[in-house]
Amino acid sequence: MKILFYDTKKYDSVSFDKALADYKHIEIKYLETDLEPLTASLASGYDAVCAFVSSDVGAETIEKLHEVGVKLILMRCAGFNNVDLEAAGTYGIRVLRVPGYSPEAVAEHAMALALGVNRRLHKSYIKVRENDFSLNGLMGFNFHEKTAGIVGTGKIGAAMARICRGFGMKVIAYDVYENPDLKDFVTYVSLEEVLAKSDLISLHCPLMDNTYHMINRETIAKMKNGVILVNTSRGALVKTDDLIEGIRARKFFGVGLDVYEEETSNVFENRSNEILEHSTTARLLSFPNVMITSHQGFFTAEALEAIAKTTLDNAGVYEKGLETPNEVKN
Ligand code: NAI
Repeated sequence: MKILFYDTKKYDSVSFDKALADYKHIEIKYLETDLEPLTASLASGYDAVCAFVSSDVGAETIEKLHEVGVKLILMRCAGFNNVDLEAAGTYGIRVLRVPGYSPEAVAEHAMALALGVNRRLHKSYIKVRENDFSLNGLMGFNFHEKTAGIVGTGKIGAAMARICRGFGMKVIAYDVYENPDLKDFVTYVSLEEVLAKSDLISLHCPLMDNTYHMINRETIAKMKNGVILVNTSRGALVKTDDLIEGIRARKFFGVGLDVYEEETSNVFENRSNEILEHSTTARLLSFPNVMITSHQGFFTAEALEAIAKTTLDNAGVYEKGLETPNEVKN
């Protein structure tokens, strides 16, 4: 089986080459370029393409993949909001993903952002490097005995809930389904109650039509003053302009973002010598209480190993014509 691998970074080829030792029948060609309508036809002669969070796997790309005979899209990530599942269904292209590779990797990063922004680590690191040992502007608050509100208690949200409990926080949560594994220490409440009662709100639900811009002017108004908001899920859960308005209105003690709406052209690229076309990232970074990382929640050795293994397992499942819960359909 031949797979064309798009948007390859060094760490991708290293982890996949290592895993390939156990999958002798699979051949991978790595491309640096990302998948989009213009690059889809490069997959001519391949059975499958392997794409990632910033790939454009929209209807046009899928039509082009179909034209060149591709039958399988292997998403090497959990999210699939960038895949047009209807188009994939129309052309009979199967879409397999890696639903959970290391929930703890993302949850630990969510807590790192929460702590970092709370204790202003992004400021203090720079200050100390400049021999400024003063503490002005660095005061945080204890998480101990405060309330953590988790939105979405699937694999990552559950891991985040456990971490928050470890910090001695009271944990409340909102999800459309309650996770029975958490019943000992998580109290499920309405989204309104999570917004109103939490000192730390961490978003862990997928991006879908009904979660798009769930954090907006109205929902921000329902939050406690001085809340910390962390988003490691998908950028478009938060309406950035409304978030900026809320930050300017001093609503937030801090905001930690591993994902944000206009990240697609930035994600995993070194653009330090470029003049960026959008302004919202720059506006967000202008605030002293905002910390942004570039979609690195998943980026641990354990997660990369698991991503490579599950993606190659998915390819094997496809070859055998088997069903798998890793398949996403419209
Ligand atoms: P999951 O599928 O295990 O859990 C998602 C949870 O969200 C489920 O319990 C579901 O019932 C809940 N949910 C669905 N609609 C909801 C709504 N309207 N309101 C509240 N909850 C709702 O997914 P998992 O593995 O926990 O991942 C969560 C998200 O994290 C992914 O969708 C992905 O966008 C993001 N992610 C980010 C990464 C990063 O590197 N920053 C890496 C991996 C995933």
